Amino acid sequence: EKDGYDHYMLKEIAEQPRAYRDTMLGRIDGDSHGIVLPELQLAPEQIRQIQHIHMVACGTAYHAALVGKAVIERLTRIPVEIDVASEYRYRQPIIREHTLVIAVSQSGETADTLAAMREAKLSGAHILAITNVVGSSVAREADDVLFTWAGPEIAVASTKAYTSQLIVIYMLALYLSQCLNTLDAVTRTEMLAMMERLPVQIEEMLEDTRRVQRIAGELAECGNLFFIGRGLDYMVALEASLKLKEISYIHSEAYPAGELKHGSLALIEEGTPVIALATQEALLEKTISNIKEVKARGAYVIGVALEGNMDMAKTADEVIYVPRTHPLLTPAVSVIPLQLLAYYAALARGNDVDKPRNLAKSVTVE
Ligand code: F6R
Repeated sequence: EKDGYDHYMLKEIAEQPRAYRDTMLGRIDGDSHGIVLPELQLAPEQIRQIQHIHMVACGTAYHAALVGKAVIERLTRIPVEIDVASEYRYRQPIIREHTLVIAVSQSGETADTLAAMREAKLSGAHILAITNVVGSSVAREADDVLFTWAGPEIAVASTKAYTSQLIVIYMLALYLSQCLNTLDAVTRTEMLAMMERLPVQIEEMLEDTRRVQRIAGELAECGNLFFIGRGLDYMVALEASLKLKEISYIHSEAYPAGELKHGSLALIEEGTPVIALATQEALLEKTISNIKEVKARGAYVIGVALEGNMDMAKTADEVIYVPRTHPLLTPAVSVIPLQLLAYYAALARGNDVDKPRNLAKSVTVE
């Protein structure tokens, strides 16, 4: 059942190219260079009335939703609020007539996400669910469902579910922008072409993971590390940090690269590992200067950068390269070596990778 892999997590990481293809299947129309979502109940006229969007989710699904907020706002200019589901339900969120609520959940059974959805539904919002499990509570109770066709995810640490959530979110954002006419056709066509290339790019990246394995072996000994990044890189940093914590039990924190100097820089000492994500070309110079700040305090910097990025090669101690794609799509490539980093660090520490201590795959209690 593990198809020759040592762990479900490694198998599920390797399945991501297939999951991307399945999630995109039938949803990209080559003739019109657009997205088609025939399953969506929400009509284009209703979409044109949406005034705000709320996103709710927990854990890794929340991290996918963070990317969603950024991408939906960028492509549609509709303001998006986002909350961890357990906070949303108790903060009396302001839901108006034209608020769309998007709930993201792999299992479709997370108690907090369900409760947040129910709360929003009582206030009259239209609920759109993004979930992996057909027939799950989230799928049944939502007004609309977009499935992430990742296939069953067995490992407790979510990998392919997260990335296929990203793919659905990209397609949803593009679809909304088509209905609203907020994105030019050239950019849309370009983004779609780059999305369709992702599976092959990831296959290539997964062919040789020796560098990541070596770095993971080195990190396995450390007790504390930081992830930094700006914009979408920060959102991936949050996910990478969670993944590392939950299976390797190494303490890590993710910070917006510019925020470290407002306090936490005090924790950087000689040899503290800092994993610096810098896939956003527009923010590159700023992130490089933050890397210099931590290096000056003795940090050991592992950069995550786009192939051919010489600035990173000159600044960091190690660089993990990821394939070039559209700037909004980089989370779908940059998270993958960081999933592997968590996996190999956990393995080196002798942990039960698929069943980390204290955690359950599906959290059906509050
Ligand atoms: C982390 C992880 C959890 C889940 C969270 C939400 O790897 O898997 O953080 O993402 O418990 O679960 P779902 O998506 O099933 O609602």
